Amino acid sequence: MLNGKNILIGITGGIAAYKICDLIRRFKKNGANVKVTATPNALNFVTKLTLQNLSQNEIYVEEFDIKEWKPEHISLADEADIMLIAPATANTISKISNGIADNLLTSIACAFSKKMIIAPAMNCNMWNNPAIKENIRVLKSRGAEILEPESGFLACGYTGKGRLCSVDKIYNSVVEALNYSDKLKGKKVVVTSGGTVEDIDPVRYISNYSSGKMGFSIANSARDMGAEVTLITTKDFDAPYKIIKVKSAIDMQDALNSEFDTADYVIMAAAVADYRVKNYSEQKIKKTDSENLTLELVKNPDILKSLCEKKSHQIVVGFCAESENLLENAKEKISKKGCDYLVANDISRSDIGFSSDDNEVTILDKSGNIKKLEKASKRVIARKILEYLNE
Ligand code: C5P
Repeated sequence: MLNGKNILIGITGGIAAYKICDLIRRFKKNGANVKVTATPNALNFVTKLTLQNLSQNEIYVEEFDIKEWKPEHISLADEADIMLIAPATANTISKISNGIADNLLTSIACAFSKKMIIAPAMNCNMWNNPAIKENIRVLKSRGAEILEPESGFLACGYTGKGRLCSVDKIYNSVVEALNYSDKLKGKKVVVTSGGTVEDIDPVRYISNYSSGKMGFSIANSARDMGAEVTLITTKDFDAPYKIIKVKSAIDMQDALNSEFDTADYVIMAAAVADYRVKNYSEQKIKKTDSENLTLELVKNPDILKSLCEKKSHQIVVGFCAESENLLENAKEKISKKGCDYLVANDISRSDIGFSSDDNEVTILDKSGNIKKLEKASKRVIARKILEYLNE
């Protein structure tokens, strides 16, 4: 599965370093070429000899231990397809987010311009420190994938969030990241995500449970496939592409209209409210003696349909969430909306969709073809949807 792939692992000085031994073994077993750079502190937790035996390569620690004409921090960065830093301590995270390059590992990170995955592990108070949070945000906004630590019993004796995420999760994330083609290079992909928020008065609104994760995953996957991405979303995300934050369906429509002409793909994963209140109240609506309150709602514009009516070269993809008769309803919807593809979600299942990290979808196209994507993480589903659009 990983034949010919060059994986560079950076190990920093945390107790979870021992877990990376198992990970190196798995990468090797599956055919990858693994090189390891470790900070001097990491070698307090695992020995150079262990890492060397498992990776079947020299272990790179000292920056000025130069053997070739080319400095190691450049050649190691150049030859790797991906760099994984695990476990990543608070210290190393803070240094790389600020461009500090004071040892071999941080120098490589500074020179590395391809996909980087970072799996932090630290005490829960360190993880919650505002400085660390800010450094993580910065790294995300520059394109690093952060595998959030898990909650549980920590080696320092505390219980809280800070444990290195599972080796399985790290392994799968690296494999997934290495799966990307550059099929969308030169293309502009516009994605919508999250549920729209329709204000009733200054303190109340109508919305839905959409987390925005599916659209965010599609935007990330499109970027990893080389696209220029714009994400129009009601949620807060940090990412290395253009993000337009919107609130209501009308805001979303305005943002889409301004991005539409130059787009090659428009992927509408947002859950747009079908209705909004007719008369927004400038003042908070007061409770009265009456047992009932009637809010009059008016229909929001069907953004997807209106884009399909004016589309030229764009491929437009809609999403639909159905709680019954998934296929029948989806078939009716694709012809009503006029989109090229419709991705149908079964929301009657609690293990997929909405806030879940997983999904299982069925893609319909306007010629009547149907493709089912089996349950997988939203990241994998996102890549598969984009690949299917390009088949
Ligand atoms: O009609 P329904 O809400 O099931 O359709 C879902 C698809 O239509 C999604 O792609 C959603 O983003 C889009 N939509 C829209 N404008 C609306 C309602 C939904 O563009 N008012």
